[in-house]
Amino acid sequence: MGAVEDLRPIFSPKSIAVVGASRSPMKIGYEILQNILVQGYSGKLYPINPEASEILGLRSLPSVLAVKDDIDLAVIAVPAEFVPKVMVECSKKKVKGAIIISSGFGETGEKGKALEDEVLQIAKKGGIRVVGPNTLGYKDPIDNLDAAFVFGMPQRGEIALISQSGALCVGMIYYANGEHIGLSRVISVGNKADVDDADLIEYLDQDKSTKVIAMYIEGIKDGKKFLDAARKCKKPIVAIKAGRTPAGSAAASTHTGSLSGSDAVYDSAFKQVHIQRAFDVGELFDFARALTYQPPAPGNRVGIISNGGGAGIMIADWCESIGLKVPNLSKKTMDALRPHLPSITTARNPLDVTGDARFHRYHATGSIMLSEPNVDALIMACVHAGIARPREYVGAVIKLVEEKRNLKKPIVACWVGGREIDEVVQELRVKNIPVYPSAMRAAKAVKCLYDEGKRLDMLGKKKAGKDSAGS
Ligand code: ACO
Repeated sequence: MGAVEDLRPIFSPKSIAVVGASRSPMKIGYEILQNILVQGYSGKLYPINPEASEILGLRSLPSVLAVKDDIDLAVIAVPAEFVPKVMVECSKKKVKGAIIISSGFGETGEKGKALEDEVLQIAKKGGIRVVGPNTLGYKDPIDNLDAAFVFGMPQRGEIALISQSGALCVGMIYYANGEHIGLSRVISVGNKADVDDADLIEYLDQDKSTKVIAMYIEGIKDGKKFLDAARKCKKPIVAIKAGRTPAGSAAASTHTGSLSGSDAVYDSAFKQVHIQRAFDVGELFDFARALTYQPPAPGNRVGIISNGGGAGIMIADWCESIGLKVPNLSKKTMDALRPHLPSITTARNPLDVTGDARFHRYHATGSIMLSEPNVDALIMACVHAGIARPREYVGAVIKLVEEKRNLKKPIVACWVGGREIDEVVQELRVKNIPVYPSAMRAAKAVKCLYDEGKRLDMLGKKKAGKDSAGS
């Protein structure tokens, strides 16, 4: 079977056994059972604990072997040394998939690695696919399934998040919630003893609820498998590859038992398969948000509008320094802009509409700039100067995004003003319009959309080549 069929019982289980479901609210096994219940899981749910008769109102059974029905997924939260025995029982029961939450495996050294290998052998023999060990589990806000410890669900959206770090995974969920960035599936992969990034890329590529795949990676064991999966993936992938330096790499080996490998090799491999590399959580979501909600840029020429010259200049600098262009405008566009501008302002790119601009000037110049054939993408900036009207500019950006969708040119916003304008910026976030607090972040988001355009061109050309070779 392929990854998609293999992983379905894990991520869309009809029945779940929580092995190590605890009677104590302070323990992880209790929390997992509680989280599954809180989200209203509609399949069959079995707490497994030899010491208990009932947990959270459900009858507890001593082993998976005591369950009469089939079990799709076992979520295992018993101490590491008991996991082989539990896996043997799962194998006898013909459980289809397992998530091993327990830590104490490959990440702890040779003894732990031997235990991990033993568990993997049992799983392979029994035909059980395994996520983990040393994982948080997963959270699925689309199908309301929380098979993880740590309380709280992500906001629903179209970005799938795969994380090798469990704790960071939680942090990223909260970050995304705070930024109004919705997620489709969140999977903590832990030590990746069996199910790895490549399997998940293949699985998520088929997932109708996912538009973009965002990843936090410390190390990849099977480079070829990973690159093949990324190359075949039709959806954009954005990834942080951590452990770039000797200090980071040493930390990764004790965190998830990962060999970080040469950063230069990762960098060039990512480029080969068009994975967009991010270097921080903020950047990961900056890119993922742009890719999810704006079209790819058909070229690298950026139009810039701001109500303050400084912001426009900085955006222009950033664009030009990362491979984008800030083109001159055609005479026709300059002529069209002039009637909307005060006499002191020059019709040029970047365009300073000046601090006294109101909705109409901001909207009209944006509209004209988008019609300029030399412009492939637009950055609309606002600085919170005293006479500026950030709320009116927000309205103008929202209107432009709605009106100009058919042009297939991305529009991103750059709002500089910190907490003073946080409330109005939120309106853009809620409307899923990418908005960034600095020139650098806005320019990089556009670069990411330009790179995505190139990736799609390449895929289109490959497909056309194959089609014509086959015809
Ligand atoms: N089958 C079913 N239940 C069992 C079994 C068994 N074979 N053996 C024990 N149990 C029961 C216990 O009786 C207990 O229930 P009780 O509390 O009602 O008595 C329950 O299972 C849990 O067992 P404990 O021995 O109490 O284990 P504890 O909950 O303290 O720890 C855990 C288990 C959470 C798996 C721990 O060993 C562990 O690995 N913690 C770390 C988890 C983690 O951080 N994972 C990675 C996160 S992601 C990242 O950061 C990379």
